[in-house]
Amino acid sequence: MTCFPFSFGKKVSSVAKRDADIFEELSGLQNVRIYTYKEIRNACDNFSSANKIGEGGFGSVYKGLLKDGKVAAIKVLSAESRQGVREFLTEINVISEIEHEHLVKLYGCCVEGNQRILVYNYLENNSLAQTLLGGGYSNIQFDWRTRTRICIGVARGLAFLHEEVRPHIVHRDIKASNILLDKDLTPKISDFGLAKLIPSHMTHVSTRVAGTIGYLAPEYAIRGQLTRKADIYSFGVLLVEIVSGRCNTNASLPIGDQYILEKTYELYERGELVGLVDISLNGFFDAEEACKILKIALLCTQDNPKLRPSMSSVVKMLTGEMDIGESKITKPGLISDIMDLKVREQKNNIKTSSSSYNDSSASDSQGTIKSFATSSATNSVQYDQSR
Ligand SMILES: Nc1ncnc2c1ncn2[C@@H]1O[C@H](COP(=O)(O)OP(=O)(O)OP(=O)(O)O)[C@@H](O)[C@H]1O
Ligand SMILES: [Mg+2]
Repeated sequence: MTCFPFSFGKKVSSVAKRDADIFEELSGLQNVRIYTYKEIRNACDNFSSANKIGEGGFGSVYKGLLKDGKVAAIKVLSAESRQGVREFLTEINVISEIEHEHLVKLYGCCVEGNQRILVYNYLENNSLAQTLLGGGYSNIQFDWRTRTRICIGVARGLAFLHEEVRPHIVHRDIKASNILLDKDLTPKISDFGLAKLIPSHMTHVSTRVAGTIGYLAPEYAIRGQLTRKADIYSFGVLLVEIVSGRCNTNASLPIGDQYILEKTYELYERGELVGLVDISLNGFFDAEEACKILKIALLCTQDNPKLRPSMSSVVKMLTGEMDIGESKITKPGLISDIMDLKVREQKNNIKTSSSSYNDSSASDSQGTIKSFATSSATNSVQYDQSR
């Protein structure tokens, strides 16, 4: 349904007139529901703090009740992430067309004046970051069956974006905070297609370093090479988190245990992968299946992107339709290696070209990575040349 319930008042400003022209020109926007600012404001009680449910790199998120009775998650894009109406609506139209059981549904948007607001289906059980990895602040019990269902669901959603949507979508930000859970704990991937909504000079990833860095594939982090294989790497990291119930990086652990991927490979080589399974399961899990999932995770995170399987193969491996094969799993691309590299680079104050990564991608004096976002990495909807 296309509806443009805009009233520009008595005196039509030139900006409003221009926007109206753009709306007309984009009359092919079959899928987008355009909300007025007033509708949005009413839905979330004037953006009250009681309704604020989160804050991410793009801006704040509010829970709201829409006029039609739907409960929505309302994402107000921050000032820096606002772009022109035409570009915004074009991208929104692409995202709105995409529907899948394991993808968060975009209801519509608001583009009044300077405002750029996205309206999504509200998911009742928050994100995997806040529940499974939230350090005991959630009541949800993730038993073994639920975890395997989540792994397969996310894999299916990502396979859909990678292989069925045309043009293919590289998500670019697969991580636990972007996996939301509905009332039945069915996982839904959020924020796909968003990278194109922000101006290319903005380094979205930089704002949420701690939650993002451990998911970045080395070739993307260092050279800005963004292909589906970078998403597959992030998905592999996520798989390990789901099985272990641990965040990918934990600086409070002894060195050697801090990076979960490093630990996983070490245990794989020793034939002790089962030691990684979340102890909170109290032994109630299928050990063979757990080791299989961890091996798939290692396949997905291999340093050489070409060796990583496609997402449709990953789905088949997870569901048992395809053997994971006995071929040797090669060493993962490790974030600790990248961190060393970044620290060294900053110390040497090497100036890099914008095609590799921008200046803010250096690490600070404590060795904390600030950003790996690259100019080439800001376009998430693109054809993949990795195969
Ligand atoms: N559709 C939704 N339903 C319910 N809660 C949501 C929804 N979308 C977002 N949230 C909540 O808002 C929080 C912030 O989301 P947002 O996507 O802005 O940031 P993030 O995922 O934490 O980080 P990033 O900006 O890097 O993706 C999420 O962690 C989640 O708790
Ligand atoms: Mg998000």
